[in-house]
Amino acid sequence: MDQTTTIKQIVRGIPTQDGAGVKLTRIIGQPGLPRLDPFLMLDEFGSDKPQDYLAGFPEHPHRGFQTVTYMLAGKMEHRDSSGNTGIIETGGIQWMNAGKGIIHSEMPKQTEGLMRGLQLWVNLPSHEKMSEPNYQDIKADQVPVITDIAGLEVRVLVGEYNGISGPVKAQAVQPIFLDCRFSLGKSISVPCDIEQVFFVYCYEGQLNVGNQTLDKGQLAVLEPSIMLSVSGRANSQCIIVGGRPINEPIVQYGPFVMNTEDEIRQAVDDFRQGRLA
Ligand code: CO
Repeated sequence: MDQTTTIKQIVRGIPTQDGAGVKLTRIIGQPGLPRLDPFLMLDEFGSDKPQDYLAGFPEHPHRGFQTVTYMLAGKMEHRDSSGNTGIIETGGIQWMNAGKGIIHSEMPKQTEGLMRGLQLWVNLPSHEKMSEPNYQDIKADQVPVITDIAGLEVRVLVGEYNGISGPVKAQAVQPIFLDCRFSLGKSISVPCDIEQVFFVYCYEGQLNVGNQTLDKGQLAVLEPSIMLSVSGRANSQCIIVGGRPINEPIVQYGPFVMNTEDEIRQAVDDFRQGRLA
């Protein structure tokens, strides 16, 4: 079988603002790539200017999907309306199932220095949209780092690589989320499920994927295959993310992602009436 990794599409994010005015780059969830089932959104935030991030993401609701926050540098404090609280620090990841509803804030826990991270929104199938909310808060030292190839470090956040499983427990779309850091020019091969959708996002340096170059800030959507391979130039970093498409209708109204207009009306109503969380 053909094992060549082929790029379907390359996109670069667009600068935007969210929360109370945090500057960020939206890579999935913008006109060039509105969605990539099961992924609804991918944002990168990163600045060493406090005025770009201090306003944070004050209290806001979510229903019907999961939010994944991966901190590359800095500290973010998370608080919800039920009293759950936690800090996501450099190298840590929070996988939050909003399910039937969460109202929370995500605020920088720093007043200076670099804050950098990624937030990915993962959709839920209809039968899990109204599930009980939960959090998986993973610290950097709980994430296995595989260094079987000199010059390449692979952090397994979710799913499996080389027989090592990431600490985030299996989720509806059977995700895989790897952070690959190439200190020397090296290649990584990842066995894939042909049913899964995969993307590679280069957040540092430059990669070769198939016969194309992927620069810093570019995301490649890959054609389905049984093995993907990515070559990183020296001092390059990327995430490789995959998941099973859900193939259901999506109706989205801001932070509510459901299957029908009626369910969206219900979500807005529940939020207004104080019944969401
Ligand atoms: Co949120």
